[in-house]
Amino acid sequence: MPTPTLERVLKERVASLVGDDLELVEAEINRELASPVALIREMGGYIAGAGGKRLRPMLLLLAARLAGYRGPRSARLACVVELLHTATLIHDDVVDRAPLRRGRPSANAQWGDDAAVLVGDHLYSKSFAMLVRDNDHAVMEALARSTVSMTEAEVFQLELKRSGVTTEADYVRVITKKTASFMAACCSIGGLLGGLSPTRIDALTQYGLDIGIAFQISDDSLDFVANQDRFGKAIGADLREGKRTLPLIAMLARATPADAARIQGLLKRPALDAEEVDEIRRCVVDHGGAKYALARAHEYAQAAKADLAVFPPSEERDTLTLIADFVVDRDR
Ligand code: IPE
Ligand code: IPE
Ligand code: MG
Ligand code: MG
Repeated sequence: MPTPTLERVLKERVASLVGDDLELVEAEINRELASPVALIREMGGYIAGAGGKRLRPMLLLLAARLAGYRGPRSARLACVVELLHTATLIHDDVVDRAPLRRGRPSANAQWGDDAAVLVGDHLYSKSFAMLVRDNDHAVMEALARSTVSMTEAEVFQLELKRSGVTTEADYVRVITKKTASFMAACCSIGGLLGGLSPTRIDALTQYGLDIGIAFQISDDSLDFVANQDRFGKAIGADLREGKRTLPLIAMLARATPADAARIQGLLKRPALDAEEVDEIRRCVVDHGGAKYALARAHEYAQAAKADLAVFPPSEERDTLTLIADFVVDRDR
């Protein structure tokens, strides 16, 4: 269960360190969403206004401060990564046929797949236009590398879904590339802004990878155990989509052969009804699949904290440590 105070403490710490920059990011996002095309304004405002944890901008801003950077580029680049993240969510929900996002009907549910694909493309392009305006080759390369990795992983994930078999190693490969590589890029961009040594940039990159893996394992566990209203996304969505995530993989390895065979049979069905989804969810919880996944997530979060050891103690380092705790101890 999440610690109710952790999110609050983290919020306060983040606000005191980079609160002004986060406000600039919000203002910049709103400026970027202004468009002569009404549908872009409407959908952009709807999605950006629905909240979201702003984790990637936070990582970039905190890493930049940790690296000693003080200036206007970090807030602008934090806006770049949030726009890019928003675009990937809009596209992800089309692919996953997701009905809910950030506690509201998803863009595809509200406006249709066609509008969601097009507006997602537009936000992606806006993000890259801003990145080009910033004009730093190393920063562009870090972000380009992570988007290549993310999109490749999405296709690999689709391939796995269609094959009906996913091993734990495949799973870790997918989440490292689809989620963690982007968080790693956010952290390394912060380090680049501060002109850190390659060793320290590598440490920040590794921290980003470790929290990213922990974050996605926790997301995939929440798909089984979260409170939907709080999570803001549909529960059991991964099962309905045929995505085999770590809690399910671990359950299949632990269940009796009879239980495993029954679940494998259910998973082969073209569509699952609510009772079948519930049966699988119960099985995952009863056989310790969710518990196993969360234990793995905690290991990555611990590794993330250790990655920061090359930096001298500071409030920024403490806050990044707190983020490592938060990503595995959250309910939304
Ligand atoms: C959702 O990311 C996509 C995943 C990688 C699981 P977040 O959980 O950070 O989404 P928001 O921005 O807070 O809505
Ligand atoms: C993460 O995968 C999406 C991206 C990295 C783009 P999910 O499909 O698990 O994310 P949610 O649960 O829909 O947010
Ligand atoms: Mg999804
Ligand atoms: Mg998910």
